[in-house]
Parts: sequence; structure tokens; C-alpha cells
Amino acid sequence: MSNDTVINIGLCGFGTVGQGVWKHLAQNRADLESRLGVGLQIYSIAVRDLKRKRTIKVPAKKLTADPMAVATDPNVHIVCELMGGTTLARRVTLAALKAGKIVVSANKALISACGAEIFATARKHGGHFFFEASVAGGVPIIKALREGLVANRFPQIYGILNGTCNYILTQMEERDEPYASVLAEAKALGYAEADESLDVGGWDAAHKAAVLAWLAHGVWVHPDKMIVEGIERITPADFKNAATLGYGIKLLAVITRDFSTNELSVKVHPTLLPEDNVIASVNGVFNAISVTGDVVGTTLYIGKGAGQDATASAVISDIADAVALLRNGKGVHLTSEVPIPAGGGVKPAPLEHIHGRYYLRLTVRDQPGVLARVASVMARHHVSIASVIQSPSETTDTASLVLTTHDSHERAMQKTIKQLTRLSSVVDKPLLLRISDFNA
Ligand code: NAP
Ligand code: HSE
Repeated sequence: MSNDTVINIGLCGFGTVGQGVWKHLAQNRADLESRLGVGLQIYSIAVRDLKRKRTIKVPAKKLTADPMAVATDPNVHIVCELMGGTTLARRVTLAALKAGKIVVSANKALISACGAEIFATARKHGGHFFFEASVAGGVPIIKALREGLVANRFPQIYGILNGTCNYILTQMEERDEPYASVLAEAKALGYAEADESLDVGGWDAAHKAAVLAWLAHGVWVHPDKMIVEGIERITPADFKNAATLGYGIKLLAVITRDFSTNELSVKVHPTLLPEDNVIASVNGVFNAISVTGDVVGTTLYIGKGAGQDATASAVISDIADAVALLRNGKGVHLTSEVPIPAGGGVKPAPLEHIHGRYYLRLTVRDQPGVLARVASVMARHHVSIASVIQSPSETTDTASLVLTTHDSHERAMQKTIKQLTRLSSVVDKPLLLRISDFNA
């Protein structure tokens, strides 16, 4: 390939991310082309609605409503799948890989559902699959894990992996705003998924956790096998309670491997994090990931986790790697298609081995004996109470009861919640949050 070569890029999807890629490729074209030693051109773009008005205007002849045509066009060297979803996106991705192309993807839902198939197809047909934008937006966490930290095994990776949820939680805490109005803002800012329940239900973070767990441990953990809890039931009062206890609240993904037993746990849940933990003060659309390696110790990565510009930055970094691959005939990625061998016998951690402290908020009838009944259920499951905050309602005959526990395990807590829900004096579904004492 000479310096006169032009690399043709096909975009499947021209929404928030696709238009960001166009904008920033145009803006920094001269620098990029000089660094990469080739010309870059967006050759064709597939969209669903050819008539839609878009912020970025492109020549009509570049647009098509047929993403498969872009994926299989012999003139296209790099296919960027930026549509989302798991049906058409899967077909387009596999078709491009079968044609031996390089696919760049931001689609964590697809990777988490079909990663094994995608990488097998790439291997079989000589295609390649890059996915930096799929986790933590503009933060180069994929590169960090597989290149910068290749010397390590990873006992713990945890952090904020969903920008929408972090934006919502921050605004709820800082402005005392209700959940629904802040969610509408996050959607307008281009942070949320087309189906926002993926964000607020914790599933998007679970998809990303699956990708990180695969990179770190070589196994695909399906989100259905994880503990996944969202932020929908958190109220402004929970932030006040958490602050009283010395904590902030973040939606965290937590990937823990015990190398002595080879047990792996991958979970996503709202978490009380000590106020002096750096990640507790990472706000708005920012993501933060703490990666502990057995060689390096703990490293921390922070940056914008969603939105047009941050995500375009990650997609363009993959395009640059793809160009290097096309020019040099070998990848700069150490393990893009070659995970560590078969997960090294990793097995899922049983619920009895997943433990920690818990925050439990109950709405109860404000009557004699209620606290004793709640305490008795907890005692039955050997869940020891560490503190109690009781706030009577000003308008009804109920009270909010916030209990924190000493170290307990998941199985015991799940049984406790089940029985508490059945008590007639508990009038609403209990809210359970984890308390983590991570200090970095
Ligand atoms: P988006 O704004 O909804 O854009 C989706 C694009 O795909 C639109 O241009 C749409 O066409 C096109 N499309 C959808 N279905 C199609 C079909 N059947 N045929 C042809 N084109 C089709 O989504 P986005 O926010 O850019 O996200 C794209 C991907 O990036 C998703 O996988 C998402 O999870 C991921 N991601 C997003 C962010 C973010 O901050 N937004 C960050 C990281 C990763 P029309 O424009 O005509 O509707
Ligand atoms: N909806 C996702 C988020 C986009 O809010 O984090 C980035 O992956």
C-alpha cells in the first residue's frame, strides 16, 4: 500500500455515533492521513430513513437504505457497524467478516450476545473485528486491558460503565431532580440507547462488563447469568441516606476473580461507594474503571463514557488500527481475536461466595413491633444489622426504614428480601443496594 492509497470506509448507521465519526474525520483529516500514511474517505453510508433531516449533510449519492450492500461492497475496506440492535447488526457484521473485511463496532449488545460467533467468523474468513467504542465511550479501556496490561491477571475490575445512568444519578443528587425528567435530558443529549431500558435497567453496563470479562478472563458470561440491577427505584432520599452514612451512589459493574478457586463473578448494581473513593466523585456522563492487575497493581481510567464526540474518538481509533492492519498486514492488537486459552477453567462464583455489606430501604407501617419483625427475618438468615435510620412519613402512617448490614452473602440477602416482601407491615417492594468499601 502506498501513501497515495485511499481507504474506503462504509458506515452502517448515521445517527449520534455515525455523524460524530464523519464530523471528526473531516475535522482532523489532514493530521490523521499524515499519521496513517493513507487517504481516508467515507465511501458509503447506510441509514434506515433516507429522507431524515440530519445535522451533518452528506452527498445523497453516498446514502443507501441497504446496510448489507455497504457490508459486502468490494470497494469498502472497513465497515463500521453503528446501527445498534442484535438482528440486522449481526447479519451485517457477519456478512462483512465473511467477505474478509475489517469491522469496527460500537455495539456492545451484539458483542455480548454473539461475541463467540463474531470472533470465530473473523478467524475463519480472515476478517477482523475491532470494538474500542463498545465499552466506556472515549476511554481506551479495551486497548489498556489487552495491550498496556497484557502482563497481568485481573483479580478485580470495577467501575462506572454507563454514562446515561451516571448522568441521571448525578443530576438526581445535585439538583434533587426526579428520575424521569433527568432521563429525558440524557436521551436528548444522545447518551441513551434507542431502548433506554437497557441503560437504566443495568443491561447496557452488563453487556460492557461481559466484554471486559471476556478480555480479562477469556470467557463469555451471559448477562442472564449475572446479578443485574438498575437504577429505576433509586430516589433522592437514597442519596441523602447514603450521604448520612458517608457514601455516594453509583451504578457499578464489578468483575471479580478469585484465582485460588478460579471463581468468577460479574455483576452490575447500584452501589454505595465511600465518598473518598475517586470513582464516587466521577460525575455526569463520565465513566471510570478501576483495573487491578497482579503485576501492575491498581490503575484507573476516567473519561466521557457516552455521547457523539467521545464515541467517535474510539471508533476513529479503531479505524486507525484497521488502517495499520491493512498497511502492514498484521494487527497492532495483541488479542483482538485470540482470547486467553478457553478461560483457564474459570467457573461462576456461587451466590454463597459473593458477599459484602448491604443497604436495605423498606417502607413499613409505622406501628409497634414492625422493626422487631423485620429484624427477626434478617436474623433467621444470619444477616446482621449494622445501623438503622427511621424516618416517619409526614403524610401517611408509614415510615422509611433504612438498614445497613454487616458482611452477608447474596443468597442470604435474596432470601431475606423474599420474606420481607411477604410481611404485611412492609408496604412497598424493598430496595436493596450493595455497599462497597473499594478504596481505589
Ligand atoms: P442512533 O443515533 O439511534 O443511530 C442509529 C443509526 O442506525 C441511524 O442512522 C439509523 O438510521 C441507522 N439504522 C437503524 N436501523 C437501520 C436499518 N434497518 N437499516 C439502515 N440503517 C439503520 O444510535 P447511536 O447512538 O448512534 O448508536 C449506534 C451504536 O453505537 C449502538 O450500538 C450503540 O449502542 C452504540 N454506542 C452509542 C453511544 C452513544 O453515546 N450514543 C456510545 C457508545 C456506543 P436513521 O438515522 O435513518 O434512523
Ligand atoms: N447508552 C450508553 C451509555 C452509550 O449511556 O453509556 C455508551 O455506550
